[in-house]
Amino acid sequence: MKIVKLSLKNWRNFKQLEEVPLQERSYVIGANAVGKSNFLDALRFLRDVAAPAGTKPEAGGLQEAIKRREGLAKLRCLNAQKETEVKIEVTVQDGGDVWCYTLGFKGEGKGNNRNVITRESVSKNGNRLLECQRPDAADGTDPDRLTTTYLENPNANKAFRPLAHYFAAITYLHLVPQLLKHADELGGNRLQRDPFGQGFLLRIAETSSRTRDARLRRIQRALDQVVPQFKQLSFEQDPTNGSPHLKANFSHWRESGAWQRESQFSDGTLRLIGLLWSLMEGDSLLLLEEPELSLNLEIVRRLPQLIHLVLKGGKYPDRQVILTTHSEPLLSDLSLGTESIIRLVSTGNGTVIAPANEKEKIMLKSGFSVGQALLPAVGPAGLEQLALAGV
Ligand SMILES: Nc1ncnc2c1ncn2[C@@H]1O[C@H](COP(=O)(O)OP(=O)(O)OP(=O)(O)O)[C@@H](O)[C@H]1O
Ligand SMILES: [Mg+2]
Repeated sequence: MKIVKLSLKNWRNFKQLEEVPLQERSYVIGANAVGKSNFLDALRFLRDVAAPAGTKPEAGGLQEAIKRREGLAKLRCLNAQKETEVKIEVTVQDGGDVWCYTLGFKGEGKGNNRNVITRESVSKNGNRLLECQRPDAADGTDPDRLTTTYLENPNANKAFRPLAHYFAAITYLHLVPQLLKHADELGGNRLQRDPFGQGFLLRIAETSSRTRDARLRRIQRALDQVVPQFKQLSFEQDPTNGSPHLKANFSHWRESGAWQRESQFSDGTLRLIGLLWSLMEGDSLLLLEEPELSLNLEIVRRLPQLIHLVLKGGKYPDRQVILTTHSEPLLSDLSLGTESIIRLVSTGNGTVIAPANEKEKIMLKSGFSVGQALLPAVGPAGLEQLALAGV
């Protein structure tokens, strides 16, 4: 499955985004604070709503998802004025089928701190599933029902269960190597769903040894190309306390090299290992924040290809990846077209999408990469130009 379109209304700094097309690999670019992470957060929000209810703090559901974002007042676009509804709509391609899921919600008001659904609907191949159309007659007789979505309710989402499972499996990664290296000192304090990769070693430990070894071998093959002195990446459990570790042999002037654990790996190596592992870990949408961080420019330049190769050689070659980036080298691959770029720019009335202008289109035709043609406009000087062009 993959998300092919996203519309947002009053979501954080997006007052209105209509049907933004998404590809198998999409790159969200734009100046600092323009809303790149907020864009990804709309998809993480769907994940949080759809996640199984279960025990706190991993509990899913609409109310939890809003609470986790410090309430509706923080979420609703500051430019929303009188319009109270926040709305997210996604179109999902599922083989030959096309699903569309819409969720709208607002504060209940009347002194209540609850949020209520203003609309929820699902369609498959253009046909609305009538049993999933909210508000429905039952909602009319019992308004409390409007505090939970059908998406989060296994008794109500049978007709679109594949979609609910797909949303619940959306993964977000913004790996912070230091958190992983200092896991012992930090104790067990970890954020929900581990967005910063602290639990990465535990996840590796929980993977069956066959799958784990196969994945580590594939990562090693990718690393051979970019960190050639790094060999024999493998997993080990500490014999004294059982804690999980990665180790690798770092070749140097001594013939046998030196064995190192993850705390001695470079930040970039660790980040790359985390990224490659995450790519192989599932088949749902993967959201990556600035994968270029800590990496050498030559590696950054090859990241799109590396992502492609790792996925192509694995179980889920068509896995969708949406990432944010500030990096021109990352976007230097000439096979990347404008269709895979989502360029965000701020206006006085919220953030909007800025497609390539005429001058940029000419640059692209003349052989410039999307990074060279489209990124300069998101820097301070370029922003001025966009503003002058009325974008
Ligand atoms: N409800 C809201 N209404 C309007 N703006 C909001 C709302 N919530 C957050 N913002 C704004 O969104 C901005 C942060 O957006 P975000 O973190 O997505 O930026 P970014 O493009 O990822 O930046 P960076 O490149 O620095 O990571 C902040 O300036 C914040 O004020
Ligand atoms: Mg960001």
